[in-house]
Amino acid sequence: MFSPASTILGVLFFGGVGLCKLYEDVADLPRLQYDYVVVGGGTAGNVVANRLTENPDVSVLVLEAGVSNEGVLISEVPFLGNDFFASINPYSWNYTTTPQTGLNGRAISYARAYLLGGCSSHNGMVYTRGAQDDFDRYANLTGDEGWSWNQIFPYFLKNEKWTPPADQHDTHGQFNPGIHGTAGPISVSLSGFQWPDFQRRIIQTTEELPDDFPFNLDMNSGQPLGVGWVQSTIGHGERSSSATGYLAPDFIQRPNLDVLLHAQVSKLVNVTQHQGKPSFGGVQFRSGASLFVAEASKEIILSAGSIGTPQILLNSGVGDHNALHALGIPTVLDLPSVGQNASDHSYFGLTWAVNSDDTIESITQNATRFNEASEQWNTSRTGPFVFPQTGTHAGWLRLSQDSPAFDVHADPSPGPGAPHFELLLLPSGQDLPGNFVTALLAMVSPVSRGSVTVSSDDPFADPLIDPGYLASEFDAIALREGVKLAQKFFNASAWHGYLGAPTINLAAMNATEQMATLRANVASGSHTVGTASMSPRDATYGVVNPDLTVKGIAGLRVIDASVLPIVPGAHTQAATYVVAERGADLVKQLWT
Ligand SMILES: Cc1cc2nc3c(=O)[nH]c(=O)nc-3n(C[C@H](O)[C@H](O)[C@H](O)COP(=O)(O)OP(=O)(O)OC[C@H]3O[C@@H](n4cnc5c(N)ncnc54)[C@H](O)[C@@H]3O)c2cc1C
Ligand SMILES: *[C@@H]1O[C@H](CO)[C@@H](O)[C@H](O)[C@H]1NC(C)=O
Ligand SMILES: *[C@@H]1O[C@H](CO)[C@@H](O)[C@H](O)[C@H]1NC(C)=O
Ligand SMILES: *[C@@H]1O[C@H](CO)[C@@H](O)[C@H](O)[C@H]1NC(C)=O
Ligand SMILES: *[C@@H]1O[C@H](CO)[C@@H](O)[C@H](O)[C@H]1NC(C)=O
Ligand SMILES: *[C@@H]1O[C@H](CO)[C@@H](O)[C@H](O)[C@H]1NC(C)=O
Ligand SMILES: *[C@@H]1O[C@H](CO)[C@@H](O)[C@H](O)[C@H]1NC(C)=O
Ligand SMILES: *[C@@H]1O[C@H](CO)[C@@H](O)[C@H](O)[C@H]1NC(C)=O
Ligand SMILES: *[C@@H]1O[C@H](CO)[C@@H](O)[C@H](O)[C@H]1NC(C)=O
Repeated sequence: MFSPASTILGVLFFGGVGLCKLYEDVADLPRLQYDYVVVGGGTAGNVVANRLTENPDVSVLVLEAGVSNEGVLISEVPFLGNDFFASINPYSWNYTTTPQTGLNGRAISYARAYLLGGCSSHNGMVYTRGAQDDFDRYANLTGDEGWSWNQIFPYFLKNEKWTPPADQHDTHGQFNPGIHGTAGPISVSLSGFQWPDFQRRIIQTTEELPDDFPFNLDMNSGQPLGVGWVQSTIGHGERSSSATGYLAPDFIQRPNLDVLLHAQVSKLVNVTQHQGKPSFGGVQFRSGASLFVAEASKEIILSAGSIGTPQILLNSGVGDHNALHALGIPTVLDLPSVGQNASDHSYFGLTWAVNSDDTIESITQNATRFNEASEQWNTSRTGPFVFPQTGTHAGWLRLSQDSPAFDVHADPSPGPGAPHFELLLLPSGQDLPGNFVTALLAMVSPVSRGSVTVSSDDPFADPLIDPGYLASEFDAIALREGVKLAQKFFNASAWHGYLGAPTINLAAMNATEQMATLRANVASGSHTVGTASMSPRDATYGVVNPDLTVKGIAGLRVIDASVLPIVPGAHTQAATYVVAERGADLVKQLWT
């Protein structure tokens, strides 16, 4: 059953099937036995499905709980992406965190996509790879050089298709063409709509304060420190996601690839022993009101993301024996790290009123301009609606070496080339009448660790999500230090005559009040990783080996963001894509 040589099954299945479809109903699915069953048609899952079905002899079923991304306007139109951040919406799992001790006990909204493409279909589209130091630390933490920056770099190129911006503006001096891919499934581009007044002042600030805020031509070189132009997963004015890219018509039509929507996986079933290890033969899922089992003859691949993957493992009896026993879930394998070591970023927005109408509010607060922008996007995929509202530039910055944060904890960043902070610079504020700019400040090298656990033996109950925001004193003190950097940035003379009053006057507060304000307002980074972490093959902790196979189980892998041991100093979709690209290669290597 697990012999890498047994491709006969795949060939047999392949023979009888016509054009692949995106199935809405399990009754239409041609069969329930495949070589590989991929759980979750998200950012990583669709990469794996695409790459494995390059071999026509291999059959793959993708089970996705959520709905189709087809025709979902707020997914297609970059400018409308913010609509996903509403806490409850049809394309979300509608999660809330557990009460966060670091946030004065607040339980906060926690976004996770419930549609094909996963978070790549609803995220902020910011494209950042992280630092060379991040990946070199992954190599160190796993004992596998294959995760180092140099060896992962080709996978960034394989994933990416660099694309001119929708407004065809001259991009000279805004990125380094030498480090981008040109033939991958995911379009990446500089913004196709400009905010000239705001952007000019940002560049002026890098010239005025080059010690603190040096200009960085391309933050995706592995050396992200400094301030540069944001790149986004957008092509020709539309969002590019794992659904639009890796399941594009050429791929979804492969006869050996089936994708079933509205199929929520409850747990892995049919345990047998294989060479002394337990192995699951089936994936149980709910479709409509009924339960079904899909069988995988080669491997089951969990790509349900940093929340869904540990939840399914725990539901299946793979996790901490004592915790499972207490809930009445029979243990298949005692693997205490499942769901532990969650690592995420915390965000805090600093907003100022501005003396300019060249901000996003000029569109969102003017129905005439909003409709014009909508019309323009509908007819030509240009105009303000091609702008993702997540920022024109980002700064990747470090704490000063004498920061008081280092009195409470040693430097948690992976190296001197990696940031402690992100400053995402937006020409907009909150929903107040007027015009604003914002520095979205994130603590991107957190010490805090959280967890994802289950609270009952009902596999369909919501998991308990505890990202541990500001649980570590280091993270809280560091974030407060970051506030000073944001203030320093907007104190440059480039902003004189432009910047008005802040919406929250942090400068007038003492340190205690500032800390209270941070704890009262910090929001989720939505970049959780680590809940099914890689560790060296012989480690006594961790969930997967460096080849992403689940420790102690046969025929099961995890390929998604949850395998990264620590959150990178970056938005996490690019890191997820390279985990998936390499993960698919690791599967192919075993079975050829
Ligand atoms: C609101 C938000 C904004 C973000 N903004 C950015 C950004 O601007 N730039 C960036 O780089 N990153 C961003 N991220 C993070 C990034 O998108 C994620 O880290 C990455 O996409 C995670 O990929 P994944 O494959 O691990 O999981 P996902 O993409 O979440 O895929 C998991 C899939 O599995 C499905 N699933 C889960 N459980 C089950 C089950 N039981 N049965 C069947 N299917 C299941 C889900 O519905 C989902 O489709 C953002 C994330 C969020 C939530
Ligand atoms: C989240 O809530 C919306 C609105 O009620 C609903 O349409 C959607 O199906 C919910 N998501 C899940 C996973 O139940
Ligand atoms: C990881 O780094 C530490 C500290 O530099 C070093 O001692 C250790 O040998 C490294 N481990 C691997 C597997 O490279
Ligand atoms: C697999 O498990 C399901 C439910 O646990 C059961 O109904 C089914 O008969 C099992 N299939 C095999 C082949 O053992
Ligand atoms: C969390 O990760 C660290 C390594 O970064 C490891 O030492 C520890 O055992 C892990 N904890 C769990 C519960 O897996
Ligand atoms: C809204 O936009 C229209 C079209 O650009 C403009 O004529 C009008 O003055 C704007 N209204 C306000 C209140 O700014
Ligand atoms: C643009 O197209 C969308 C989807 O068809 C539609 O809902 C919207 O009203 C259109 N905008 C305008 C201004 O016509
Ligand atoms: C702002 O800049 C002025 C000089 O232009 C300086 O005196 C002042 O200390 C700065 N304030 C902050 C908070 O950086
Ligand atoms: C900070 O300000 C608060 C409220 O004004 C006050 O109660 C507190 O004593 C101050 N703390 C310090 C350290 O000055």
